[in-house]
Amino acid sequence: MKTILVTGGAGYIGSHTCAELLATGYGVVVLDNLDNGCEAALRRVEQITHRKPVFVQADVRDKDALDRVFREFSIDATVHFAGLKSVAESVANPALYYDVNLGGSVALCDVMDSHGVRDIVFSSSATVYGVSSDDPIPEHAEKQPAQPYGETKLAVEHHLEELCGENAGWNAVCLRYFNPLGAHPSGLMGEDPRGIPNNLAPYITQVAAGFRDRLMVFGNDYPTRDGTGMRDYIHVVDLARGHAAAIRFLDENPGFMPLNLGTGRPYSVLEVLAAFERAVGEEIPYEIAPRRDGDIAIYFADTTKAEKALGWTADFDMDDMAHHAWHWQSKNPEGYPR
Ligand code: NAD
Ligand code: WQD
Repeated sequence: MKTILVTGGAGYIGSHTCAELLATGYGVVVLDNLDNGCEAALRRVEQITHRKPVFVQADVRDKDALDRVFREFSIDATVHFAGLKSVAESVANPALYYDVNLGGSVALCDVMDSHGVRDIVFSSSATVYGVSSDDPIPEHAEKQPAQPYGETKLAVEHHLEELCGENAGWNAVCLRYFNPLGAHPSGLMGEDPRGIPNNLAPYITQVAAGFRDRLMVFGNDYPTRDGTGMRDYIHVVDLARGHAAAIRFLDENPGFMPLNLGTGRPYSVLEVLAAFERAVGEEIPYEIAPRRDGDIAIYFADTTKAEKALGWTADFDMDDMAHHAWHWQSKNPEGYPR
């Protein structure tokens, strides 16, 4: 069975993907600098799968470290998660985002190429579309990222597309995630944000756990069914399964392929909150606050192309996402042991 290099494998989506790859028979080598990941997540991966991922602590921009990994292990393909993901931080410090997200990806591709490894699955994002006029959004929709984070994701996609075009032998799947949510059903792995969470679901679970007073709902005057913003939330285990399917896809399908990973079913902030209230069994306090700068009313994926290409669909619904996220939060109130 093949061995997959998983950059950023100690993070939220990466750790769930390591578990999925190991459970389906792949060997896994994780490269992560632990900037936002945690080695304990990899111990949980082992606890779930009874298989151990190899762990190398290194920065994805460090070409010497990458070179050593490709010399030491017989890598067949890479799943590339390593990067920074805060939209607000990317506005404050765009150079950092270009350096880590674009520079890291270019360094990785250079080293892969020099070792003859030319199959890659890349963590892209629905932010590449920016304010899209399409609902649902197909892969061919116009790309107008509204901030440096989205620009770096689109720039990496362009680099991969050029490699695939120029250099026969390169094959890339860019997975554009919509809004990842949830946790492993075992309660052993989940999202472990440092500091105040930016995203909706970890904020809700921290309110439900009593760490924060109330959820601020950013705007209730959008043109949506209850006035709050609507997003396409996707369970992290469905995302992980999508990566394993993309690795299999690369075996048979040469070239460049961008694919949306979402469910195609948008939920409003109040609907997400209601799902968490069902999971927790209690009301979760909230307050309506002004709109957040840069937010849009609604976006959700056209998933037709991913479903056809990968033979994949998202299995979990919003109640599963809320239930699993709450199971993780209540079993691990302080996140992973550090
Ligand atoms: P995460 O922060 O939990 O995981 C990223 C991992 O990469 C962390 O373990 C971190 O330590 C590691 N890392 C960061 N910089 C690194 C570097 N220079 N060298 C080596 N390792 C480094 O984030 P996540 O939510 O799991 O996201 C994974 C990927 O998916 C990211 O590329 C992110 O941009 C993308 N993505 C995330 C979301 C989301 O909402 N979570 C949505 C779309 C796309
Ligand atoms: C979801 C909805 C908020 C927090 C971001 C990135 C995107 C991707 C996923 C990386 C919106 C509302 C939120 C809160 C709220 N990440 N909300 N109160 O903004 O859709 O997407 O994360 O690629 O790139 O932009 O996700 O979870 O922040 O917000 O009312 O405290 O919840 O207004 O409608 P977003 P989010």
